[in-house]
Amino acid sequence: MTSPTTKLSWTEYQAHEHARIERLFIQLVDAFRADAREDTQALWKVLEDTIAAHFAVEERHVLPVFMRDDEDEARALRAQHDEIRKGLAELGVAVQLHCLRDALAERFIAALREHAHREDVLMDQWLRRQGLAAPVEAQLAHP
Ligand SMILES: [Fe+2]
Ligand SMILES: [Fe+2]
Repeated sequence: MTSPTTKLSWTEYQAHEHARIERLFIQLVDAFRADAREDTQALWKVLEDTIAAHFAVEERHVLPVFMRDDEDEARALRAQHDEIRKGLAELGVAVQLHCLRDALAERFIAALREHAHREDVLMDQWLRRQGLAAPVEAQLAHP
């Protein structure tokens, strides 16, 4: 079955993806706390793939253009991607070892939220300035 295709603006697409990533993370922590090991493994994989795909879109299509407008901010966003990737790898080890500590989960969700908020604010302002807020085709997945 294919997912429905919906026209979204870039900012709507971003907000949708950020909310989806946060939801997946919360589901993962809930599954871990319930000791639902198969669900935890499956959700971990979906979260990893979703974040990888989201960052790839931004790094391929958004940050290179943003770099020409505000290089420092684009580099800072890129550095946050690397930090979140590191956090994701730590999370993966913790899931494998069945020892996900609250402090690690809280640090990871705080980093995700801070990054998403920074992007939501900055990208919205920037895309409007650039006149790039045109709708994009987005595959909306409904986990
Ligand atoms: Fe993003
Ligand atoms: Fe990002």
